[in-house]
Amino acid sequence: ADAYKGDYAHFTLKEISEQPDIIFKSGENTKNAIKNAGNHIKNSNNIYITGSGTSYNAALIAKQILAKYAKIKVDTIISSELQFSSQIIEPESTLIAISQSGESADVLEAVNIAKKEKCKIISIVNSLTSSLARESDFIIGMNCGPEIGVAATKSFTSQIIIIYKLVEVICNGNFVIDYKEISNAISKILENHAQVRNIAKEIKEISDIYVLGRGVHYPIAIESALKLKELTYIHAEGIAGGELKHGPLALMDSNVFVIIINPKDSTYSDTLTSAREIKARGAKIIGISDEKSDVYDYWIEIPKTSELTYPISETIPIQLLSYYAAIEKDTDPDYPRNLAKSVTVK
Ligand code: AGP
Repeated sequence: ADAYKGDYAHFTLKEISEQPDIIFKSGENTKNAIKNAGNHIKNSNNIYITGSGTSYNAALIAKQILAKYAKIKVDTIISSELQFSSQIIEPESTLIAISQSGESADVLEAVNIAKKEKCKIISIVNSLTSSLARESDFIIGMNCGPEIGVAATKSFTSQIIIIYKLVEVICNGNFVIDYKEISNAISKILENHAQVRNIAKEIKEISDIYVLGRGVHYPIAIESALKLKELTYIHAEGIAGGELKHGPLALMDSNVFVIIINPKDSTYSDTLTSAREIKARGAKIIGISDEKSDVYDYWIEIPKTSELTYPISETIPIQLLSYYAAIEKDTDPDYPRNLAKSVTVK
């Protein structure tokens, strides 16, 4: 029944809207695997994480969360690139492979290379019967239900939740996530869809959007840019805030929009400074934050929460913005041109 749109105009909107529930479902079908994989990670010498597209962006988040909270160092490798650096894969290490479909050819190939080095494979996958699941030593289910829209939405959220659950196991009670807070924050942001829809009308004619964030918000900026590209066909790019003066500032003028991901955590004041520098060059600023500022031409409010809720909270308005901009442009959000839901060939 999950594979039907129900009352929603598109699968993409349905899947975005399911996210308050996904928070509680993610990984619930494979609780033991999360425990076993978490304990395995704790005792593993070298850990690599791989994936493609959105799933790779989740890997980038995993890297930061594991480093900051579990003090575990991991290398992230884009699945299609792993063949070019296979020399760095230490024998008998651990490869965490993230894939919604479990059928991406690039991911399967990366797993194959790692298995030749006798690595253990932990998969984070939505389909437990997929090729990836069959190749894995530990299979963690996203359990977010079928995702039909080509643009990954709920699966990304689910991947972050699984990462949190793994870190909970690794940190043995010293890492606490308030799942209810995350779910409530998403619901609140979804209620605000009319405001986001109005901003979508403003961006539909422009040709360049940049998304800026620091720390864990940088991978979210990269993921946001991917969502905008796929759904709106607007050129979009994620920028690490501190990199602005190392190049991207040259592109800022009155023709561009910049989305500033700026929750009130340790990245806040530096990112606000970046926003001012961009604004001074005439670009329009969309601020996603729990704190209002006069620098934002458009402010999308997210609830004030604990810091580990922010990465998920701030993702939701950009999913909505991308979806509504597709509607405004009269393109099909479920099936963007030239793309397939899972890329099963190289
Ligand atoms: C995401 O919006 C894309 N459609 C795409 O990048 C996707 O995440 C990628 O192809 C990986 O798919 P997978 O998670 O099924 O392996």
